[in-house]
Amino acid sequence: MLLEVKDLNTYYGYSHVLQGMSLTVDHGECVALLGRNGMGKSTTLKSIMGLAKPRSGTVLYKGEDVAGYPPYKVVRAGIGYVPEERRIFATLSVLENLAMGMKGGKIDKGNPDAWTVERVFEHFPPLKERQGSKGALLSGGEQQMLAIGRSLMGNPELLLVDEPTEGLAPLLVSEVRDMLEDIKKTGVAILLVEHNLRVAMSLAQRLYIMKKAEVAFAGTVKELDARPDVREKYLEV
Ligand SMILES: Nc1ncnc2c1ncn2[C@@H]1O[C@H](COP(=O)(O)OP(=O)(O)OP(=O)(O)O)[C@@H](O)[C@H]1O
Ligand SMILES: [Mg+2]
Repeated sequence: MLLEVKDLNTYYGYSHVLQGMSLTVDHGECVALLGRNGMGKSTTLKSIMGLAKPRSGTVLYKGEDVAGYPPYKVVRAGIGYVPEERRIFATLSVLENLAMGMKGGKIDKGNPDAWTVERVFEHFPPLKERQGSKGALLSGGEQQMLAIGRSLMGNPELLLVDEPTEGLAPLLVSEVRDMLEDIKKTGVAILLVEHNLRVAMSLAQRLYIMKKAEVAFAGTVKELDARPDVREKYLEV
């Protein structure tokens, strides 16, 4: 396994928002994390990244327990993160934003597969055309592309992506979906938080559905397909 999250307990003050949360992601696999609002999906990603400190449990990444590491160390270990709010640098250009992504990541000198600006542009052609534009002037879809492209510049082996299609027009939703499919094909594993069930089921091999603070269902896409009762109980459909 590439990532093994085991029995995480995370609190915000007295509020116990992850109660024994566990999941795994294999090398090159795309795994979706679903569930209604406020169940703890983003907190699960933040607990992996060290942005929320789990009180107990382990986050094994390539066999090393990174739970409680500061975020920059988790990034350096090889995990990329695209937060829900994207966090594009508004006053920096597309190129400058991409260069920022190179700093935090894994140093991969001499790796022929290392991500470069050119390679990001091949995957996200609209960004190439806007390379001199300031982040603030990009459309929602372009910002999402830039956020994903920037995290790829750190050469992650695992990418955590929080709701990449949220708030996008239908055409852009399928564009972002196709981009993630492309990235998957390069061998990067993805842990995807997604409200759009169709997008999640088309990208992921396996899915987890959270109920309040823990996993309610885990299975393959085929297994979830056969469980309309689970979808009705734990997702908004
Ligand atoms: N910084 C915070 N301080 C206190 N409580 C928080 C904080 N962030 C989230 N919470 C609470 O923790 C619980 C889990 O939130 P989380 O953001 O992980 O849910 P989510 O599944 O990602 O929801 P959504 O689908 O709305 O993004 C919620 O009850 C939320 O209100
Ligand atoms: Mg969330």
